[in-house]
Amino acid sequence: MTRSLEVLASPYLRGLIPYSPGKPIEEVERELGIAESVKLASNENPLGPSPMALQAMRNALPDVHRYPDGSGHHLTRALARHWDVSPEMVILGNGSNELLELAGRCFLMPGDEAVYAASAFIVYDMVAQVTGATKIVVPMREFTHDLDAMRASVSPRTKLLFVGNPNNPTGTAVPARALEAFLESMPRDVLVILDEAYYEFLSPDLIPDALRFVRAGRPVLVLRTFSKIYGLAGLRIGYGIGPVPLIALLNRAREPFNTNSLAQVAATAALCDEQHVASTRAVTEMGRKFLTEQCRSLGLSVIPSVANFVLVDVGRPGPATADALLRHGVIVRPMAGYGFATHLRISVGTPPEIERCVAALKAVLGR
Ligand SMILES: Cc1ncc(COP(=O)(O)O)c(C=O)c1O
Repeated sequence: MTRSLEVLASPYLRGLIPYSPGKPIEEVERELGIAESVKLASNENPLGPSPMALQAMRNALPDVHRYPDGSGHHLTRALARHWDVSPEMVILGNGSNELLELAGRCFLMPGDEAVYAASAFIVYDMVAQVTGATKIVVPMREFTHDLDAMRASVSPRTKLLFVGNPNNPTGTAVPARALEAFLESMPRDVLVILDEAYYEFLSPDLIPDALRFVRAGRPVLVLRTFSKIYGLAGLRIGYGIGPVPLIALLNRAREPFNTNSLAQVAATAALCDEQHVASTRAVTEMGRKFLTEQCRSLGLSVIPSVANFVLVDVGRPGPATADALLRHGVIVRPMAGYGFATHLRISVGTPPEIERCVAALKAVLGR
């Protein structure tokens, strides 16, 4: 008798609920027979990529028959200079998502504990699930990481602890000093993964100095990405900064050519494009305020966000509401999978995109 593939799969994989990404615009338009829809579902940059990144890719195109530089020499060095760390403290990933998974693969085994917040980025849960680690899920307080409760959940079996700051999907951040005190308080044998995918959207008063802990050799891995403010989500490029021995361990298990050559040159150029970063930050701040006010004027409750998206309670089932919005050409993300049955996560778009979204919300909610 032959065994089914399902039985052959690891029992941890069998229990994994797959990540459901936001639908591509073309797919939605094809399915519904509509055109000119707006995508506000994946927290991408509404201004597009940095023009400097585009030019760098054009210049690099003739060389795509070659394998990329497996060490990402230039980008790694540019990041090291940018953050005042040594190049040996930097690792590149196929999106920061790859680095979350790599850390799980390198550190977690069945019986180990991984601590993270309920309603934090779903990939932390997936990383724990697929490695067979025990999940220690800590409730949030007012839609924000409860650092005291997370610290209290650390046990001698804890190996990894994830903090998303700002957090996706709530859009909240913890106070900078509280996060630093939390890092200070952590045992030296627990690896803290500080996921800062939305770091560049933080106002100066909210920016923690996590790299101070990394430079001091504490077991902290800071993850950042080029997918959000830099507008390079489609290229899949992110990075981690950690103490040298940690980065060396992660590099042992890293796929040799995990980041591609176009992504490497584009990210190196985007890192220098301060104007694009500043414009994106300005458009996001203005748009977030506008979107929040508009949703509130429709009588909806909005969690105050510091990122490039907002979580909105529409007071009725989120998935059906998102489907109805799709028919108006507006793609947003229902958040039932995160335990928010009546919420939608709406990325901050350009002013016309936000206006389209608000008009569609009005129509769908009958306001
Ligand atoms: C909190 C958080 N971390 C990590 C990621 C992964 O980003 P990427 O793999 O594109 O770098 C995302 C993507 O949405 C995110 O929201």
